[in-house]
Amino acid sequence: MTDLKKIIQNAAASHELSAEQIIAVLKDDSINDFLFSAADKVREKYVGDEVHLRGLIEFSNICKCSCKYCGIRKENTSVQRYRMTEQEILSLAQYAKEYGYKTIVLQSGEDSFFSKEKMVSIIKKIKDMGFALTLSIGEKTYEEYKAYKDAGADRYLLRIETTDKNLYQKMHPDMSFENRINCLKNLKKLGYETGTGCLVGLPEQSIESLAHDILFFKELDADMIGLGPFIPAPDTPLAEENGGTLTIALKVMALTRLLLPDINIPATTAMETLEPDGRLKALQSGANVVMPNVTDKSCKQKYTIYPGKAGLNNTPEAYKLSITSKIKSIGRKISNNYGFRNKF
Ligand code: 5AD
Repeated sequence: MTDLKKIIQNAAASHELSAEQIIAVLKDDSINDFLFSAADKVREKYVGDEVHLRGLIEFSNICKCSCKYCGIRKENTSVQRYRMTEQEILSLAQYAKEYGYKTIVLQSGEDSFFSKEKMVSIIKKIKDMGFALTLSIGEKTYEEYKAYKDAGADRYLLRIETTDKNLYQKMHPDMSFENRINCLKNLKKLGYETGTGCLVGLPEQSIESLAHDILFFKELDADMIGLGPFIPAPDTPLAEENGGTLTIALKVMALTRLLLPDINIPATTAMETLEPDGRLKALQSGANVVMPNVTDKSCKQKYTIYPGKAGLNNTPEAYKLSITSKIKSIGRKISNNYGFRNKF
């Protein structure tokens, strides 16, 4: 066995890797299948064969941020903006209930219209419907995070996007890296299941910095990690740049599974966008979650964080059927429970 394979095999048992080892694995593509299969086995051992489906509602694409990579950044005037009413959000949640989803993920741009009071009202009503609830609505104050938690929110997604501070500042000219870290610490402190993750393949992003992203996930003891390839979006400053590849995104994901064996990892839409069945590949390389979009078609088409988003023409019903049969076709099951992290 080659040295790199030994490193991967050891990591599958010890869940430890040094930055140098991660870099060596990321730089060598001859061991990819070995890595994916090791991550798949760790996934099976710690979180089993069940795939958790989380119903995603993209309830507003209005955003005050200027993230250079993001298609719904505030400067992008070619986006038709929308904002759902509480009633519209709740009726989508009702559909999600009918599809059998146990979790609702509420995602939006950073839209100040949704005050603390408005969010608390929505959170309480969704919790009353019997869902686990994940929020993905950006950077807020400790007090706001606390109010959402007290209202019943269970989980929060806030990707660090990159741990390379210089790159972070270039990508987010109006934001601060320290505040992002602080938000993640606050979420942990408040007892949220905390999700983070990164973009893979940003311009000027090094392999070394990806290794540090992975070690950061471990250090934070993240409960969920969502990552995907950067896909250049039109009408953004990065429109003409190269994007990330599915392979490197899958490698970062598989390494994350080796280091954090018991967490929840989604097979992300960005992965499916780059390759048909990219999601299935992800499910066979460490992932155990899928987030079907339950947003109605006209809104979903306007939530253009990147182009060609997979599943834009699917109805939620059709998607539920197709993802269920695909998951079964690779020998996996649809989970019937809330899918919280069972910490090892
Ligand atoms: N390509 C891929 N992912 C993107 N995101 C934003 N813009 C892009 C893009 N162009 C991701 C960010 C964000 C998540 C909701 O979407 O990582 O956290």
